[in-house]
Amino acid sequence: MVSPGLILLSGFLCHVAIAGRTCPQPENVSFSTITPLKTFYEPGEQITYYCNPGYVSRGGMRRFTCPLTGMWPINTLKCTPRVCPFVGILENGAVRYTTFEYPNMVNFTCNPGYHLNGTNSAKCTEEGRWSPVPPVCAPITCPPPAVPKFATLKVYKPSAGNNSLYRDTAVFECLPHHAMFGNATVTCTAQGNWTELPECREVKCPFPSRPDNGFVNYPAKQVLLYKDKATYGCHDRYTLEGPEEVECTKWGNWSAQPSCKASCKLSITKATVLYQGQRVKFQEKFKDGMLHGEKVSFFCKNKEKKCSYTEEAQCLDGTIEVPKCFKEHSSFAFWKTDAWDVKPC
Ligand SMILES: *[C@@H]1O[C@H](CO)[C@@H](O)[C@H](O)[C@H]1NC(C)=O
Ligand SMILES: *[C@@H]1O[C@H](CO)[C@@H](O)[C@H](O)[C@H]1NC(C)=O
Ligand SMILES: *[C@@H]1O[C@H](CO)[C@@H](O)[C@H](O)[C@H]1NC(C)=O
Ligand SMILES: *[C@@H]1O[C@H](CO)[C@@H](O)[C@H](O)[C@H]1NC(C)=O
Ligand SMILES: *[C@@H]1O[C@H](CO)[C@@H](O)[C@H](O)[C@H]1NC(C)=O
Ligand SMILES: *[C@@H]1O[C@H](CO)[C@@H](O)[C@H](O)[C@H]1NC(C)=O
Ligand SMILES: *[C@@H]1O[C@H](CO)[C@@H](O)[C@H](O)[C@H]1NC(C)=O
Repeated sequence: MVSPGLILLSGFLCHVAIAGRTCPQPENVSFSTITPLKTFYEPGEQITYYCNPGYVSRGGMRRFTCPLTGMWPINTLKCTPRVCPFVGILENGAVRYTTFEYPNMVNFTCNPGYHLNGTNSAKCTEEGRWSPVPPVCAPITCPPPAVPKFATLKVYKPSAGNNSLYRDTAVFECLPHHAMFGNATVTCTAQGNWTELPECREVKCPFPSRPDNGFVNYPAKQVLLYKDKATYGCHDRYTLEGPEEVECTKWGNWSAQPSCKASCKLSITKATVLYQGQRVKFQEKFKDGMLHGEKVSFFCKNKEKKCSYTEEAQCLDGTIEVPKCFKEHSSFAFWKTDAWDVKPC
């Protein structure tokens, strides 16, 4: 039984509350929602703070009742983000992060030679878990390299089972008579493939032509190929210019084209000259002529100063220019002094 007086009293009290003691809209707490949310509350009305998804309540009550005074009690509630497990270290890689709290992301990268098995970022979820799960850095491997046509693998050692690791190398070699174009060494890249493979091509060289006044020898074969050799020689009194041996190059030409150069014949009957720093009698030393390339110095006279100087001359393929200052005396002009007997200037 409720007495009519009590009904009257409570009606009166309500009236008083409505009249002046309602609670205002409560203070907001970061990352929370208030239910029910209204602009004012009657005394006795209850509110609850709910931390938003991803946040947990700390340090205070979540439930409040509007008191008769119309003033909400002091609220020390805090909603703090959930913290996901530590992921600050990634073996063979790096992690970039600000905090491990909801709703942050962390970024993952791998060191060169490693690739991410997984995603490059993860988010701390409302439930406090990483999504997707953090990756691992797995070593990059290259499958065994393909062997180019006409080539063989000279150096190859798989270092990861049947595969190679980043920066491993392999070396190719061409079959005989095949020339390599490109790099013989290939390297396992960070992309898990090999650097560009070289190419081996069969290379033919034309038959070398016989030099004038000389000869050339080469293998008696139908075709001459890369690395085949030819040797050159010259007839008597001819000098080979260029190497004695030449080789068929990867470009299909010969490493050089030697030629035979003629010697020089000079009709000098009597002269002393300088040859390799020595005084020699020209008519004796060079009675068979001078060989191509040889040099001698002739003596000349300076008439005013009555002294001698030298001028050089070289035999070039059968031609030599005797210095103009050189004077050969007739063998009857015995009273004349030869330049080589005069004191040097
Ligand atoms: C509290 O948050 C609600 C909902 O976001 C908003 O309508 C209200 O103005 C905020 N109150 C204060 C005092 O900032
Ligand atoms: C993670 O990467 C994203 C996209 O590149 C970038 O916006 C973000 O700032 C990075 N976060 C950190 C913590 O480095
Ligand atoms: C990535 O890791 C998973 C499990 O750790 C493994 O099964 C898978 O083969 C890996 N994938 C690569 C490409 O390394
Ligand atoms: C290497 O390859 C051989 C032949 O394909 C295979 O039998 C062997 O299991 C492989 N070894 C590894 C470690 O993968
Ligand atoms: C061939 O490659 C190796 C390693 O990649 C490098 O060190 C070398 O310089 C290259 N050689 C040539 C001729 O390019
Ligand atoms: C290696 O793979 C990368 C990426 O797939 C590609 O861009 C590159 O051309 C490849 N390199 C070679 C030599 O095939
Ligand atoms: C051979 O041919 C290459 C390429 O055409 C050229 O660079 C080189 O000078 C030639 N060598 C000779 C000795 O002619």
